[in-house]
Amino acid sequence: MRRKIIAGNWKMNLKLSEAKQIALGLRNLSTPNHIDVMVFPSASHLLSVSEILEGSKVKVGAQNAYPSSLTAMTGEISPDQLEEIGIQLILVGHSERRQFLGESNEICNQKIKYFLSRGIQVVYCVGETLAERESNQTFSVLSEQIKKGLFGVPSDQFKHLVIAYEPVWAIGTGKVASPEQAEEAHAYIRKEISSLFVGAQTIAESIQILYGGSVKPDNIASLLSKPNIDGGLVGGASQKLDSFLGLIK
Ligand code: PGA
Repeated sequence: MRRKIIAGNWKMNLKLSEAKQIALGLRNLSTPNHIDVMVFPSASHLLSVSEILEGSKVKVGAQNAYPSSLTAMTGEISPDQLEEIGIQLILVGHSERRQFLGESNEICNQKIKYFLSRGIQVVYCVGETLAERESNQTFSVLSEQIKKGLFGVPSDQFKHLVIAYEPVWAIGTGKVASPEQAEEAHAYIRKEISSLFVGAQTIAESIQILYGGSVKPDNIASLLSKPNIDGGLVGGASQKLDSFLGLIK
């Protein structure tokens, strides 16, 4: 059985004091064994949050990193610097980075290959825009994001990869995909992964696929009741302790 993941994407929100308060509230969390919890704080909060959550059941991840070892690259963070503070989990391809910061499938691919080759866990986000959905391009967009984003990833490195299906029209809009819409996309993503190379079938069956986009404590159960939905990548509702705890519950 695939384990469930509840992941909080704090984006560029929260003050340090607020992030620390949520981390303190999560520190002694006792979750059922089949659930993993992750948080992705802002870069400047990573050290404090990871110190608070050290030894807890909550994994701390970075929202971004540069796919290289220590080098001259102004404004970026290296996985070496993340590993130094105990962080081995990175988000790649979030739609905000794709839309506004030019993170293409090719850039995602470079990042994914580099991070996975170092044994760093990656949560790779894919998803279509409203215009793409309305023009029946959802599946071709997802197919391209999976095929280009995961091109050349060695089969033994998929164990560190998690996919997040996040329809762009559902992110931060309050318009959650219906469990049926999400399930259809998740099943399709699994099928695309199974066709990446010979033998990818087993990988496709075991890979965790999270849904993201207006997940709230009151809609998460119906989403997770679907067979291909293995958890949630949550923005807004993870940025308050009460609702984060509600999601996990
Ligand atoms: P949302 O964001 O839950 O606020 O819609 C999800 C995300 O962007 O990961």
